[in-house]
Amino acid sequence: MRVEFSPSLLSADFMRLAEAVRAVEAARPEWLHVDVMDGHFVPNLTIGPPVVRALKAVTDTPLDVHLMVSNPEEQLDWYLEAGADLVTVHLECGGSPEAPSRIRSRNCGSARGSSASVIAVSSPEKVFGLFERAHAAGRLAGLAINPGTPAELALPFLSAVDLVLVMSVHPGFGGQGFMASALEKLRLLSSAAAAQGLDLLIEVDGGINEKTAALAVAAGANLLVAGTAVLGAADPAAALERLRAAAGAGAAGGAADGSQLATSNLA
Ligand code: DX5
Ligand code: ZN
Repeated sequence: MRVEFSPSLLSADFMRLAEAVRAVEAARPEWLHVDVMDGHFVPNLTIGPPVVRALKAVTDTPLDVHLMVSNPEEQLDWYLEAGADLVTVHLECGGSPEAPSRIRSRNCGSARGSSASVIAVSSPEKVFGLFERAHAAGRLAGLAINPGTPAELALPFLSAVDLVLVMSVHPGFGGQGFMASALEKLRLLSSAAAAQGLDLLIEVDGGINEKTAALAVAAGANLLVAGTAVLGAADPAAALERLRAAAGAGAAGGAADGSQLATSNLA
């Protein structure tokens, strides 16, 4: 199985983004991951369209733009116009994913999650419409799910997207520990894609390091985001090569099953 990588620029020095891009490109990443946060969907504010446009001007590596915003219906075109090659939107809409009771949006429906909290998700019509807009622009479209969102809720969308993104940390910040609950979601989604004959990118984002990379790949991920472990390293290209080797072990079946992660995060 081929495994692709999307180093997250969130861990780069924002004063030296072009240098960070050049440094990691020495190891030929398939993508560059751009974390867009709006200070509303998540409690952090990062990159906007001008920076995506500036990145596009300095690299030929496809830009994997992860939109952590409450209103992708209003913002999507900004990023398509700025040069995003792949745009991923969250199934959840409005409010903070950390505080489900505060999630409310005009366009939201709701669904019962596995916990007692109510998880608000966008209406299917809205989500399908976003994918259609990305495809009409000749770009790829992805769907992301937060740690609290059951993977089953993504199943109806698989045939309409190029990528499904399983968050293995609560979105908003780099440097968090990998949540083992992501592994079962990766297994479910990769099995469902295979059963439907879909050539889907199964992306995992958050807490990826040499150990968790192997576990995620063994569980079915074929596209790994890594911030701290790659662009947070002194030599990003060497760090990416090490991650590739570790992921290769997971693809070859050499990884453990992740049961040691079952009760907690792995920092
Ligand atoms: C978190 C972002 C991630 C982040 C991952 O909300 O979506 O892409 O950059 O960082 P690490 O790899 O440090 O967990
Ligand atoms: Zn991300």
